[in-house]
Amino acid sequence: MTQKKHIEKKALFDVQKIRKDFPILLRTMNGKPLIYFDNGATTQKPNQVIDAIVKYYTGQNANIHRGVHRLSQDVTVEYENARVTIQKHIGAKHEHEIIFTRGTTESINFVATAFGKKFVNAGDEIIVSEMEHHSNILPWQQLCEEKNAVLKVIPITDSGELLIDEYKKLLSEKTKLVAIVHVSNTLGTVNPVKDIVSIAHAKNIPVLVDGAQSIPHLKVDMQDLDADFYCFSGHKMYAPTGVGILYGKEAWLKKLPNYQVGGGTIKTVSFDKTEYEGSPLRFEAGTPNIEGGIGLAVALDYINAFGLENIAAYEHELLTYATEKLSAIEDLRIIGTAKEKASVISFVVDGIHPLDIGMLLDAQGIAVRTGHHCTQPLVAHYQIPGTVRASFSFYNTKEEIDVFVNAMMKSIQRIRK
Ligand code: ALA
Repeated sequence: MTQKKHIEKKALFDVQKIRKDFPILLRTMNGKPLIYFDNGATTQKPNQVIDAIVKYYTGQNANIHRGVHRLSQDVTVEYENARVTIQKHIGAKHEHEIIFTRGTTESINFVATAFGKKFVNAGDEIIVSEMEHHSNILPWQQLCEEKNAVLKVIPITDSGELLIDEYKKLLSEKTKLVAIVHVSNTLGTVNPVKDIVSIAHAKNIPVLVDGAQSIPHLKVDMQDLDADFYCFSGHKMYAPTGVGILYGKEAWLKKLPNYQVGGGTIKTVSFDKTEYEGSPLRFEAGTPNIEGGIGLAVALDYINAFGLENIAAYEHELLTYATEKLSAIEDLRIIGTAKEKASVISFVVDGIHPLDIGMLLDAQGIAVRTGHHCTQPLVAHYQIPGTVRASFSFYNTKEEIDVFVNAMMKSIQRIRK
């Protein structure tokens, strides 16, 4: 890279300028400047996304795919353009492989229901891992109960990495699908999903990847990853809540039965016979979250202007800095020390409940998540009640980490007094 290009790249990453795009970051909380380290739960929204939603409701609102009138036509085009933006962002081959859902949870439930109905029978097996979020356990557990199938679990090491040899041993002719998280919301571990996919594919087993925590941090390319299904939520990547994506390979989507049916999914309906549309309309029953879909594309344009590689590099700097600083605190133990991590740091302090720390941090204006993070089997692995979790975004700073670490030390002292 030339010197000039390097400078241009650095100049693109003016964190103070980025922070001005997020109005909520100007707030105070309990009399202190808000420090928002709960990005794993949901990210804040930039003005660009907020403005797109206001613009939609003040000048564009109409139902889509249903009107000959101009408003409906225009907003249908905008919504379908959003689908193309998402398709391009994740490198999907076809726009009809992008299905709008309410979020990751609905996307996984969709596959468990539709795939499960057709392809899973008594005695079959589904594989998940010990580090899954409940959203990537419960739909499969429920399916297995309904079908008398068996849920198999890939174990992890204490540092929070998948035991790949154990995974290989679990695969058999009974395995119908592997459902695996890309980035752990609790540990931050970045799983080797490309390898996991290719190991399963060698035995003709499809793979669903839960990308809820990877999409805001990593560049993903469906052609490179080769996952059969990939799911994510808008709200964890600077877009509105209530909208998400299910990516499915065309060949699979053609084979899946309907998930929900209703308005918008059909070509013709009669009491004798109903003819359905193809994907994606067949899978998008009812009026969708229109402003959410549009907002999702605006959020992608927003992050792409900075470059996900740049975002990942900066967030990694924050992670390294916070890990060093927190590790110096006596009796503090980091949970999740995998070699490959995204900007999530979970920890416990000997003899102190995570909730108590969370409440004292909140009093100092610092938002973290505490508890089991919807990963109870994972937390059980470590035999702890839960963790304190700080999850960073590219609008966070090292100065905020300094304030957080000082607040941590003050909180521990106060509880121990
Ligand atoms: N899954 C989200 C989190 O990890 C809600 O906080």
